[in-house]
Amino acid sequence: MNFLKQAITLISIVLFFISSHSQNGHDLWLQNKNPKTVHVVTAKQSPTIDIVKNELLKGWQGTEGSTLTLTIKKDRSLHRDGFKITPTTIQANTDLGILYGVYELLRRQQTGIYINENINNPSYDRRVLNHWDNPNGSIERGYAGKSLFWRYGKDSLAVTESDRKLWQEYARINASVGINGSVLNNVNASPMMLTAGYLERVKAIAEVLRPYGVKTYISIKFSSPSLIGGLSTSDPLDADVIKWWNNKIKEIYKLIPDFGGFLVKASSEGQPGPQDYGRTHADGANMLADALKPYNGIVMWRAFVYSANDEDRAKQAYNEFVPLDGQFRDNVIIQVKNGPIDFQPREPFSPLFGALKKTAIMPELQITQEYLGHSIHLAYLAPMWKEFLDSDTYQEGKGSTVAKSTDGSLFNQKISAISGVANTGLDTNWTGHTFAQSNWYTFGRLAWNHELSSEQIADEWVKLTFSPFDLANSQTKPDFSKNDWSNNFLQPVKQMMLDSHEAVVDYMMPFGLHHIFSANAHYGPGPWYGPERVRKDWTSLYYHKADSLGIGFDRTTTGSNAIIQYEEPLRSQLSNLETCPENLLLWFHHVPWDYKMKNGKTLWDNLAYRYDAGVKKVREFQKIWDMAKPYVDSERFYEVQSKLRNQNRNAQVWKDACLLYFQEFSNMPIPYDLERPMHDLEDLKISTMKRPLDYK
Ligand code: GCU
Repeated sequence: MNFLKQAITLISIVLFFISSHSQNGHDLWLQNKNPKTVHVVTAKQSPTIDIVKNELLKGWQGTEGSTLTLTIKKDRSLHRDGFKITPTTIQANTDLGILYGVYELLRRQQTGIYINENINNPSYDRRVLNHWDNPNGSIERGYAGKSLFWRYGKDSLAVTESDRKLWQEYARINASVGINGSVLNNVNASPMMLTAGYLERVKAIAEVLRPYGVKTYISIKFSSPSLIGGLSTSDPLDADVIKWWNNKIKEIYKLIPDFGGFLVKASSEGQPGPQDYGRTHADGANMLADALKPYNGIVMWRAFVYSANDEDRAKQAYNEFVPLDGQFRDNVIIQVKNGPIDFQPREPFSPLFGALKKTAIMPELQITQEYLGHSIHLAYLAPMWKEFLDSDTYQEGKGSTVAKSTDGSLFNQKISAISGVANTGLDTNWTGHTFAQSNWYTFGRLAWNHELSSEQIADEWVKLTFSPFDLANSQTKPDFSKNDWSNNFLQPVKQMMLDSHEAVVDYMMPFGLHHIFSANAHYGPGPWYGPERVRKDWTSLYYHKADSLGIGFDRTTTGSNAIIQYEEPLRSQLSNLETCPENLLLWFHHVPWDYKMKNGKTLWDNLAYRYDAGVKKVREFQKIWDMAKPYVDSERFYEVQSKLRNQNRNAQVWKDACLLYFQEFSNMPIPYDLERPMHDLEDLKISTMKRPLDYK
């Protein structure tokens, strides 16, 4: 009895210690550790190797007193910054390869993954974050505070020690997951970014990022020659314009010799571009590419283009770019959002993937949750990105996945790259929501190896982020298999993460519905949103097309015929109502309300059940998290608990808004075994329009 009492007291003390250990989330997946001794043997000296040694001395969790040998030598089985590891050796072609190898080795030690000899080559050469940060420090679609790079007000360009410290932390975090590039400013670019003061700051940032292998890039405004260069035109074929860019690029490389290049949003959403001068996207991109070429710089030219004409917005980028295939220089890469519209909760892959065969093309993912509940909703995005990367385009026969058509394995392209719109800001925990950190982590891990599973990435992230082992204070070696932590925390939390994206889809836009948000904020529901004065393709009505007959966008031959842009046999599969995947049904078809779906229920009933299921899943997440309390520090526990409550309330709003609004068209009852709505439609129309971010 006494023994039992003592044991219980001991367990309580341990649990208290774990849960009371304050964690503000700033260390993300790089928590401090109590290192074992390791002897590092290497002949090489460089700033990167200094970082390597430091990381090993700070974090070694392998056998006490081991010797680790680092070898840099040419090995043709290794590509670029790839590496080979064993428990006691790391070999690579480059210093950066060694750095990535060290992070991998430490990660395996900390997550208890067995280390066998292993060759590890990156899937993509360039793994780039896109920061939508403005020169005044605000962030477009940023939900985690102000910019890490830019400040507002007087002395905003002065570089302080705390700036440098922050940038170094940022560089380290990125390198730890293999991210090797950062575009430092918004795609809706200010021309100011190309002026001397800003370029000096880019130089200062680049100096901090360099030893971690993170290259700097900037977004440019296409009309900069006229806006800041005093020229009368920015026509890409004009000799003075070409000269202006040549000089500007020379100036940049003088400051930043390893500068990565430009990201360009041109002739898109009101941004200037070559089309303003009667030129093509290829004319514009090639002019910049030629100027960057002598310095090995690249142009990432975005394909996010559409205009307010009558053509289905989903078709426009393909129509614009496919005719230009083969006309781009080899240092141009076309950057394409995963779906044909705009980072919706679920989209089919953009038909440009696989269709551009003579032009390098790169995926653009969105890490920041613009359309997925900002930093309020818990949505782990690995399953969404895997679904996209694993989609078969059939463009070069079966198995031509998006991943293969962009990583260089299907097409002979000089550059391979992937980008993600960052979710970072000055918030202490970097990303606003603790679980949003997992999406930054995931982007890096998938960019390095797109074959990793969502489950494995979640497993690593949870272990690293919420380790039950207080490595800073104990000698405990992680052995996740022998710990109730695994059953009571790791497994349920991982499952919650794996289910979370689908839950958001369910309560926002199931069955391929898309873009039915309230105006601009892209947070709350607004299926009714469609004022006369707003261009049609910026309204919800354009996308759901609900009427008395049914709902959904007909993109088959009887409608916009967007399916023609997909290769066979996918095209036929998507065109046929019976074979179209149900999770994309309303993306491709206008479907009668009483259409019988595979489970025998009508479309209307299925919509109702699906919205309801989404809300219920969030309530399950709340229970899982509440039960996780003994295993999490109080700061992060209460933060996530409160966010889940908010998510639950907001999911209910989504369900009520969409079902009550669509019911006006279907005229069918919400199935009687489901709970009734809690809100009135008219109230929701007012509150979600006025206060889209806060309808508690
Ligand atoms: C979306 C987003 C904009 C952004 C644009 C882009 O439309 O709402 O804020 O500028 O995408 O990717 O260029």
